Amino acid sequence: MKIIGTGSALPDKQVSNEDLTKLVDTSDEWIRERTGIGSRHISTGETAASLAAEACKRALENAGREAVQVELLLVATCSPEMALPCTACQVQELTGAENAVAFDLNAACAGFLFALNTAYAYLSAGIYRNALIAGTEVLSKIVDWTDRGTCILFGDGAGAVMVEQCGSGGVLGFVQHSDGRRGNVLACGSRPLENPYHGERDFMRYVQMDGREVFAFAVRQVPASIEEALEKAGLEVEDVDLFVLHQANRRIIEGIARRLKADISRFPMNLDRVGNMSSAAIPVLLDELNRQGRLIPGMTLALSGFGAGLTYGACILQW
Ligand code: COA
Repeated sequence: MKIIGTGSALPDKQVSNEDLTKLVDTSDEWIRERTGIGSRHISTGETAASLAAEACKRALENAGREAVQVELLLVATCSPEMALPCTACQVQELTGAENAVAFDLNAACAGFLFALNTAYAYLSAGIYRNALIAGTEVLSKIVDWTDRGTCILFGDGAGAVMVEQCGSGGVLGFVQHSDGRRGNVLACGSRPLENPYHGERDFMRYVQMDGREVFAFAVRQVPASIEEALEKAGLEVEDVDLFVLHQANRRIIEGIARRLKADISRFPMNLDRVGNMSSAAIPVLLDELNRQGRLIPGMTLALSGFGAGLTYGACILQW
């Protein structure tokens, strides 16, 4: 399976660190030093579906394919506008991908990677010949804008890729892992139980996070999963041209690079401009690299996502 086109879409409104100092007790210096983030895009009405649809249209255009040709449409999101229908069906309607089977997948910040691997399984089995895969988030609606520990981290946006079966190259190896025992480290409620029979109970309305635990988990597990995926692909760290990682935090990425003994120049980043966009992070970065002409045919990429669940994994692919 090969990626043949990429696309992305970000809300128009940009919110700088300086802007956030008007909401919470923080500073540009603190945010930049601890996270590497300088600004992020925040929805003023764009939804997970509208952003994903725009990203998908651009990915189709980039791939030179028509929406009606799409056979599988997967959307990874943990911040859908609607519980029903799923975001993928909304995207199907907005893009005109009328022949696709469409459904959502939620694995938080590893969502896009898990969706990519899911598409790979379907395409390898010969069930579908192509797939359009989006990662899309409007995290600004599940973040507590009075909590300086979390509201500074996240941004909204969407990225998408078009993939097709191919004879050689493409996906060379992948791994995925989940550790549900540690779900409390990064969590958010969906909707409260409001039926007439329930008793009083606490409801977690906004994202709650143990930042240090998440940090330690990422720096330990991500390099291990990249090495595991490389082993499956029969490759070494030195064979990787670019590490396209989930954009959570500059210091996390630097820690991963150190553990892999790989130069930081091989770890492209855009989190300074977009923050942590959960499942949208990897496809948005891929699209930026693609449009900048930095992805050359034959290059080896290591993609890795990690986040709430806990979920994490890696995919090695030849561009
Ligand atoms: N501005 C200023 N001060 C802040 C702040 C902010 N936005 N957020 C927290 N602080 C304060 C804390 O209140 C604390 O103050 P205290 O010492 O007086 O109690 C101090 O800074 C240190 O807080 P702590 O949470 O220990 O900081 P940290 O060094 O762990 O950095 C994170 C916090 C969130 C940046 C860091 O833990 C992190 O990046 N974790 C990973 C988070 C992540 O990427 N999550 C998503 C993964 S998909």
